[in-house]
Amino acid sequence: MSIRNVVIPVAGLGTRLLPATKSQPKEMLPVGKKPIVQYIVEELNLCGMDRFLFVTGRGKSSIEDHFDIDADLIRTLREGGKEDLLSELEFERLGVNYFYTRQAEQRGLGDAILCAEHFAGSEPFVVALGDSIIGRHHRSMVVERLIRAFESEGADCAIAVEEVPREQVSLYGIVDPRGDGDLFEIADLVEKPSLDAAPSNWAIAGRYVFSPLIFDAIRRTGYDHRGEVQLTDAIRLLLTDGKKVVGIRLPRHEKRYDIGNFESYFETFVEFALTDPVYGEKLRILARELSGENP
Ligand code: G1P
Repeated sequence: MSIRNVVIPVAGLGTRLLPATKSQPKEMLPVGKKPIVQYIVEELNLCGMDRFLFVTGRGKSSIEDHFDIDADLIRTLREGGKEDLLSELEFERLGVNYFYTRQAEQRGLGDAILCAEHFAGSEPFVVALGDSIIGRHHRSMVVERLIRAFESEGADCAIAVEEVPREQVSLYGIVDPRGDGDLFEIADLVEKPSLDAAPSNWAIAGRYVFSPLIFDAIRRTGYDHRGEVQLTDAIRLLLTDGKKVVGIRLPRHEKRYDIGNFESYFETFVEFALTDPVYGEKLRILARELSGENP
């Protein structure tokens, strides 16, 4: 793949997941055996990306610790005769370069992406939201398809979108797709619209490819009513400038797992645990037993 750079914004406070996130980042919560960010890095590494910038904030340093090569831990495992556990640390050696920068203030997703300007330079780059896993056990190559669409269409932005129930449109950025193919041009997009104002029920799903033109667009984007700079509003400016923005639909088997609130976090954890190749079978028996019990 020609694009190697990924930006993962992880500065959000995770208040919807309190108390679990009081002293740990929501992106480090486990889903099955791994923390959420590890799924994201592995997904994008499979698509050929090898330079990752985390846009972090206060209290997020355990993300940096997780991706270090921990020589002490390796030695302890070896000396304790626990060599079999070393395979659990193979992700430390993906051949990836990690970079970290901090968003000084909580000024929204657009502002977080602007922190990546120096890292991205004049190259196109991928954005992967730190609270979304795509595809069960991250088996998704959607970013590879996004990059292909971005390049073949000569676009300045390519976005993965997923269908959501109409009553949930106000929770997402919603696109106005031109046509009903799997790859389409986006005519407009609105961040968290009311049901009446939503141009469709296709929601921005946490994976994007951008040309560096997005940085200038973010700088020209004003603050919204919450004092935040929305990435969706900056993409809208690209459209106003006559630039091409394209979308790719996520098929059902490649759905997005949102970790931003307890309902979807629990659902995701349960689905990943029940389908775990080692522990899944026993858990499925337990789940069947429990579902026969009165609550
Ligand atoms: C962000 C984006 C939104 C997108 C959503 C899910 O919202 O602003 O456009 O639909 O992620 O990927 P957030 O969930 O951070 O409020």
